[in-house]
Amino acid sequence: MVQLDVEKVISELTLGEKVALTAGIDFWHTASIKRLNIPSLRTSDGPNGVRGTRFFNGIPAACFPCSTALGATWDTDLLHKVGQLMADEAIAKGTHVILGPTINTQRSPLGGRGFESFSEDGVLSGTLAGHYCKGIQEKGVAATLKHFVCNDQEHERMAVDSIVTQRAMREIYLLPFQIALRICQAKCFMTAYNKVNGRHASENKEILDGILRKEWGWNGLVMSDWFGTYTTSDAINAGLDLEMPGKTRWRGQALAHAVSSNKVPEFVLDERVRNLLNLINYADGLGIPENAPEKALNRPQDRELLRRCAAESVVLMKNQGNILPLNKAKSILVIGPNAKLAAYCGGGSASLDPYYTVTPFEGVTAKSKGEVRFEQGVYSHDQLPLLGPHMKTEDGKTGFMFRVFNEPASQSNRELVDELHLVSSSGFLMDYVNPKIKSMTYFVDMEGYFTPEEDGLYDFGVIVVGTGRLMIDGEVVVDNTKNQRQGSAFFGTATVEEKGSKQLKAGQTYKVVFEFGTAPTSDLDTRGIVAFGPGGFRFGATRRVSNEELIANAVEQAANADQVVIFAGLTSEWETEGHDREHMDLPPGSDELISRVLKANPNAVVVIQSGTPVTMPWVNDASALLQAWFGGNECGNGIADVLYGDVNPSGKLPLSFPVRLEDNPSFLNFRSERGRVLYGEDIYVGYRYYERAKITPQFSFGHGLSYTSFARSGLAVESSPEGSTLDNETVTATVTVKNTGKVPGSEIVQLWIVPPKTVVNRPVRELKGFQKVALQPGEEKKVQITVEKKLATSWWDEQRNAWASEKGIYGVLVTGTGEEKLKGEFEVKKTRFWTGL
Ligand code: BGC
Repeated sequence: MVQLDVEKVISELTLGEKVALTAGIDFWHTASIKRLNIPSLRTSDGPNGVRGTRFFNGIPAACFPCSTALGATWDTDLLHKVGQLMADEAIAKGTHVILGPTINTQRSPLGGRGFESFSEDGVLSGTLAGHYCKGIQEKGVAATLKHFVCNDQEHERMAVDSIVTQRAMREIYLLPFQIALRICQAKCFMTAYNKVNGRHASENKEILDGILRKEWGWNGLVMSDWFGTYTTSDAINAGLDLEMPGKTRWRGQALAHAVSSNKVPEFVLDERVRNLLNLINYADGLGIPENAPEKALNRPQDRELLRRCAAESVVLMKNQGNILPLNKAKSILVIGPNAKLAAYCGGGSASLDPYYTVTPFEGVTAKSKGEVRFEQGVYSHDQLPLLGPHMKTEDGKTGFMFRVFNEPASQSNRELVDELHLVSSSGFLMDYVNPKIKSMTYFVDMEGYFTPEEDGLYDFGVIVVGTGRLMIDGEVVVDNTKNQRQGSAFFGTATVEEKGSKQLKAGQTYKVVFEFGTAPTSDLDTRGIVAFGPGGFRFGATRRVSNEELIANAVEQAANADQVVIFAGLTSEWETEGHDREHMDLPPGSDELISRVLKANPNAVVVIQSGTPVTMPWVNDASALLQAWFGGNECGNGIADVLYGDVNPSGKLPLSFPVRLEDNPSFLNFRSERGRVLYGEDIYVGYRYYERAKITPQFSFGHGLSYTSFARSGLAVESSPEGSTLDNETVTATVTVKNTGKVPGSEIVQLWIVPPKTVVNRPVRELKGFQKVALQPGEEKKVQITVEKKLATSWWDEQRNAWASEKGIYGVLVTGTGEEKLKGEFEVKKTRFWTGL
């Protein structure tokens, strides 16, 4: 590729060509104009791996721990490395633009995509995002900050109006974007689906043009979220450069008409095109050919980094009596629904087909030198386990055949248009293409054989975006074609799982046929929901078992076991894009299992995997508790590294874990009601609320223990002299940190500012800086954290429409592992106001 002479190209483009450049051509690509050597760019999700161009039957990819996990590392160097590997993965997938990181704010533990953003705090989130973007962009790939802004819930995500004060907008919701940009000028932004104070984000001039471009001086490309463009002229005039995905709904002829009729001035269209051409010039250095083939990297050094991320994200929440680390020489009983299941990532567009996964059970087994036993305890699936991997094709391959037709099964003499061999019986067809398919309405017969290992009553489940019938030996066991009910799978577009059951015999082979019709064959009402392409299917099955029996077995074994570890938590079925959780509890049965095992063996270690907080009614009975997240490819190894002490845990919570949902400040206002959601807690999100309202959470933001101990001493605070503007003024805290224990460990030094009494109420304290430091036993290091004074002191003044750095004495707190707080202060003598990045 050659660098385009942007202005010359703009002068040579016809109106039709310019218009074409402002919209995608398919799910992942921008338009090309061969005549002027303008190539097409490829985009791909983001944020915990690079999936490539296919949700359905794609090429596997590296999966990083989810963003709350990465948030728990508080490690900017690590995030930089993550960004670099993301870029390598992108290049392997022929991708120029990564659609990530996600830096929305977890107002509530219920947010379906809470796992996708780093933190409830803008400084932590924005700083980590900035370093992640740096890693990506150093390699020439473009990063995308998303979703701009206030896309903090899934309920009616396209239709909801986020009603938020300007102060909360600045201090909470825009802050991560602002901070990330200060560290790295991400090349792209993706707009949010929702409205912000009455206007959809993708046509919100005040935000896109006023704040992002003018006030922050940013000059990259703004794209819509997928199907999140809702107008022609308003969106383009507001600053939305690119409508995604294609084929266009709002540009094309409609935009040409709008330009011809002067609803959109041509110079505005030129500006949109200019932003795309600049992005093309930026991405040119990658040398990725158009429509590049997709490869799987899966290199040994990458696996090491993924394992490090997984281990360093684990938060040691409790360790009474130093039960942890476990002893490799002793036998161990592994219990629980998440033990033999790899909860490697959350659901939705962040999900991908991983190169491989390691379950916690496998991680423990690989390390233990003693006997490893297993008890299921309970199952935690929301949907029945996929049947595909337990099926065989006629010629004995694992999986089933997937046969595509333009006509329904009822029609004779159908012509087969495609035939694939699949293993996963879950497929989202949004990016499946076949030139012989005539329209969005088509039909697929899936066929294979199932031979159960045990006699019993088997439950079968079918979820569809479309219609589907599951037949066993010709008998319809599940019919999900009529009276369909809205569910949460496939970004909230699918039906609930409809179930049926059948008695099966061990060793007997049954023929399984699943007849599927795409989305247009369904009559579900999809208002407020983002409809993605031709649909999706999922069919699963399991032998029916009683939880009571499973729990009783686990409890009996636990009573006399040497060491016990319980793995419980959520999965991508419970935490997923398109659907907010309905409550904060673990899946049914899990709390009972944990409580009863802890009664039988109080030394049992509990490991919770989730992207966001869960309630823990048994927490006072647990002596040792780890919070592990959706840990990516290396999830099980990372957890085992911490359990056995090969890695000393250093993770700190990036989110507050309330005791109960009702304690969360968004509790009264976390769903769309008549099309709006009131951000009623204002700036008091997460710890800002719990501290101000004196509500003690179960585990606080920043909490995390270690297998060693640290001492902090000698805090010195230096504040640079005041000038007429705040530019270049800093506050520096210097502190000595010592590892006072017996094993090496890393400490996360946290710097907080306590504001003086100002004209508005403010949080008790706010995080303003942090640094991770590794220390050998007995070693001490000086840690210096410097923060710009304007960021350390300011609140958003709505009357002035500016940040206010008020005069007064500001407290400085330095915290880390344990309760000890070092205190200092500095003075601001003059009140000053500022705007800009
Ligand atoms: C998500 C985006 C994602 C896009 C493409 C949307 O549903 O909100 O974050 O990048 O799909 O998969």
